[in-house]
Amino acid sequence: MSTKVEKVVEFKISRHNPENKKSHVSTYEVPIRKGTTVLDALLYIKDNLDGTLTFRHSCRMGICGSCAVNINGQPMLACYTQVLHLNADSLIIEPVANLPIIKDLVVDIEPFFDQYKKIRTVLIKPEEELKKASEFVQLPAELKKFWDLTLCIKCSICYSACPAAIDEKFLGPASLTANYRFVADSRDQGCPGRMKPMADNIWLCTQCNSCTLFCPKLVGCANAIVDDHSLLVEAGNLPKTVVEVLERVYKYRNPMGTHQSKRMDWAKDLNVKNYPSTTRTDVLFFVCCSDVYDLRNQEVARNMVQVFNHLGVDFATLGTEEWCCGDHMLRLGEKGLFEELATHNIEMFKKFSANKIVTLSPHCFNTFKNDKPYSDEKLNVQHYTQFLADAIKQGKIKPAKPVKKKVAYHDPCFLGKRNEVYDAPRQVLKAIPGLQLVEMKRTRQSSFCCGGGAGRVWTEDAQPEKRPCVNRVKEALDLGVDTIAVACPFCVTTLEDAVKVLDIENKIAVKDVLELLKESL
Ligand code: SF4
Ligand code: SF4
Ligand code: FES
Repeated sequence: MSTKVEKVVEFKISRHNPENKKSHVSTYEVPIRKGTTVLDALLYIKDNLDGTLTFRHSCRMGICGSCAVNINGQPMLACYTQVLHLNADSLIIEPVANLPIIKDLVVDIEPFFDQYKKIRTVLIKPEEELKKASEFVQLPAELKKFWDLTLCIKCSICYSACPAAIDEKFLGPASLTANYRFVADSRDQGCPGRMKPMADNIWLCTQCNSCTLFCPKLVGCANAIVDDHSLLVEAGNLPKTVVEVLERVYKYRNPMGTHQSKRMDWAKDLNVKNYPSTTRTDVLFFVCCSDVYDLRNQEVARNMVQVFNHLGVDFATLGTEEWCCGDHMLRLGEKGLFEELATHNIEMFKKFSANKIVTLSPHCFNTFKNDKPYSDEKLNVQHYTQFLADAIKQGKIKPAKPVKKKVAYHDPCFLGKRNEVYDAPRQVLKAIPGLQLVEMKRTRQSSFCCGGGAGRVWTEDAQPEKRPCVNRVKEALDLGVDTIAVACPFCVTTLEDAVKVLDIENKIAVKDVLELLKESL
């Protein structure tokens, strides 16, 4: 390591005293050289400034997985993370979440391993085959199917970042991924038994993608969980709530289970010009089934139509021809149904041939951009917050009436974590006079999921204290805000439910960014 000190960085470290169970923060100044890792800095503090600081480490090379800590809200391996790469003068170091704290930065990792013990992490074969002297051969092409999933070092980072893991019933991303690693192994014959430990809890996964995003070994847990889902779908091993969602989509082409003709009424009611469109329009407004059929979310869609009309935008909707984008079906593992929905929608996109698609839901936005076959079409798609932020920047929308509210913005996972759209919604909120925007502690990439993804918005049956939405609303309440701003119909549904469950409707409201903007026009 270089001897030249590049800068001095402030380390604010969370300390926990197991005797009186109290926590406080200690602050230290650490000289940082090129190559200094967060673990080096912690060792420097222990050796030179405070011998009582307690943290865990062993290999110092990203192999043992023991040094995971939260660095500025994001779980990382301390030995793998160079301080200069964090580009910060001050760092907050805390123990990882979802695991009990033993002392300072050391957590009890047992609950994570207890989940691991529920799955079999050895090849399962009949006894007589195991006795054979020959090797069990795996061809390179077969190995490729699961090789990346074997790179897990059991650091618990994914578990600590997982919103579903606040319910101990959930096996957690690493265990579910390891389970799939064996299912995908052509030498393994234990598939039916491997479904058992996950069948009643895997549906708690919201596909927020935090596990994949933070894994230091780039293990694709979220996708492996979708593959686990597909396995259960193929075997028909599904809870009633999931079956009901899928059946509604088979029958009505939307998970709300409302007849398509209602969509026609709604579009007429909105007075959508150019409906149904047969000529080329500038903007195709993809409304999202939740906004069409859910009364609360219809208000949000109406606001968008009013904004389009206000701007004189030439727009159209697909009306009865808009089928669910299929995002939830894909994440629930019903890939065939997803393809059917996608094929239809793509056909309609070609027929109506708009210059741009604007979606209300981050789920439609994400799937149009990133999931085949939509992604093959290279669609020009924007989330509505991006459309509005552009219009505000160009001076086409001028919010004028003050909206005197203290607002925390909740990043929807499919907009933020999956697509890095963090600034556009904030730009819209900041343009509203009188509105005070504050940041939640878990914000942007470290945002905490509302719990609605992968169909959970329709299947939720966890105890209130184990629902991500309740956890999230409590966080906003502690911040002293009167409004949680969201940019996703499923966040509206889940967070409003949580407000009702907590009986705090007189203290905090859930508003879509569009509704707040509308108040200001
Ligand atoms: S999957 Fe990644 S984040 Fe999770 S335990 Fe394994 S290495 Fe750590
Ligand atoms: S995608 Fe989100 S909810 Fe699902 S396992 Fe990963 S972190 Fe947990
Ligand atoms: S000390 Fe082993 S992974 Fe960091």
